[in-house]
Amino acid sequence: MKQIVFATNNKHKLEEVRNIVGNTFQILSLNDISCTEEIPETENTIEGNALLKARFIKEKYGYDCFADDTGLEIESLNNEPGVYSARYAGNDHNAEKNMLKVLTKLQGIPNRKARFRTCIALLWNGNTYTFEGIVKGRITEEKQGSAGFGYDPIFQPEGYTHTFAELGDEIKNKISHRAIATQKLIAFLQSSIKDIQ
Ligand code: IMP
Repeated sequence: MKQIVFATNNKHKLEEVRNIVGNTFQILSLNDISCTEEIPETENTIEGNALLKARFIKEKYGYDCFADDTGLEIESLNNEPGVYSARYAGNDHNAEKNMLKVLTKLQGIPNRKARFRTCIALLWNGNTYTFEGIVKGRITEEKQGSAGFGYDPIFQPEGYTHTFAELGDEIKNKISHRAIATQKLIAFLQSSIKDIQ
């Protein structure tokens, strides 16, 4: 089976992507290739960070590889937290503090439209490709549910009356920003493998 590195050690993401990919490819994590160093995320766009991470692995470890970067973009906050989603609450950030900051900033603001946007950068056979996935929704007034990670308890996808954290992995993995970007990645990899065969 063809191996490809997914430049992450986030168990939730690995599981999500492995579920979406099925048996098409063996997805190796950073742990699997013994990469323990911190990968830089110093660009100021989601696309830039995805590319930076993928290039870092390719250059240092030699594997064909993909990396993702995701941001929660809230319309009435000028698309904040965006590329700063992981560390929105500052130095001492965690998911709870990040969500609290969002809920506090949105207090009294009627427009709660938001979207998750994922960019996947792929380095494959000497070329670079990017794939985008967007899921639209709204920020709830309070946290609801306990599945998933990050901002899942306060994000309600369009067409649903529950948050990602209430909907759970099975539904989230079908409709999420990462699912959409990953499906584009898989379709591309499958067609490029057919071309080689
Ligand atoms: P990353 O670039 O994919 O690590 O995502 C940056 C930050 O966005 C994470 O630390 C989470 O706070 C948030 N995030 C990314 N993906 C999701 C998701 O699927 N649900 C909720 N929050 C997410």
